Amino acid sequence: MTDKCACDRPIGVLDSGMGGISTLKALVAELPHENFIYYGDDKNAPYGLKTAEEVRVLTENAVVFLLERGAKAIVIACNTATGAAATYLREKYTDIPIIGAEPAIKPAVSYRHRSKILVMATPLTLSTERFGRLADSVKGDCDIIGLPCHGLVELVEAGKTEGDEVDKTLHGLLDRYVGRIDSVVLGCTHYPFLSKAISAIVGENVPLFDGNRGIAAETRRRLETEHIISDRREDGNVLFETSAGDADTLRIARRLLGT
Ligand code: DGL
Repeated sequence: MTDKCACDRPIGVLDSGMGGISTLKALVAELPHENFIYYGDDKNAPYGLKTAEEVRVLTENAVVFLLERGAKAIVIACNTATGAAATYLREKYTDIPIIGAEPAIKPAVSYRHRSKILVMATPLTLSTERFGRLADSVKGDCDIIGLPCHGLVELVEAGKTEGDEVDKTLHGLLDRYVGRIDSVVLGCTHYPFLSKAISAIVGENVPLFDGNRGIAAETRRRLETEHIISDRREDGNVLFETSAGDADTLRIARRLLGT
């Protein structure tokens, strides 16, 4: 895929819903001249409460949707979908770069050795073998505490990133860790939209790590290696597609991209 046409084609970005927009923001910042098609499978969110097989099927449907619209590379902007489907998809779609998302444990380990790292993620992400392998391979002398976070994806999907309902849900999840952790990994792409509310609870001195800048840098690297990076000089654009397809969802998506 080294032809000029491939360079001009969009990058496909997918998530169960709106969470991947936090990744999309990093991608647009890193690759401002690229066009993007963002697919949010809002109708089927949250993925984190489904089985790995259900998520694999839904993720492949999203990839096919994006390939049919000419995507030159796929970014799975969802930790849950990456855990359930990335290996399978990379084996099946060998002629297209597929970049995945995984909880940013490594930067948290580098931040402080012998520390306690709280990994907020969906129940499915935390239950995958992939997560266990990742944690074991990078944790060194740190303690990794996995926290399945029920309810957060639903709040972001409804466009709620602050306020009483957000605070109440986060207090229920986080209060028992206050003062007992050194850093937090936001292991779901929905959670960066809740960063302010999370920091207000765990303390501003506790750093939050997400993988979005790493994903954007890796996407650039893959486009360069495959010689499919755009040589356009003007800014690219973003096209939103959602399985829910209603005006409200698109309005929330655009607002989240702008925040
Ligand atoms: N944004 C997805 C992730 O990174 C959320 C999963 C969900 O829909 O539960 O895991």
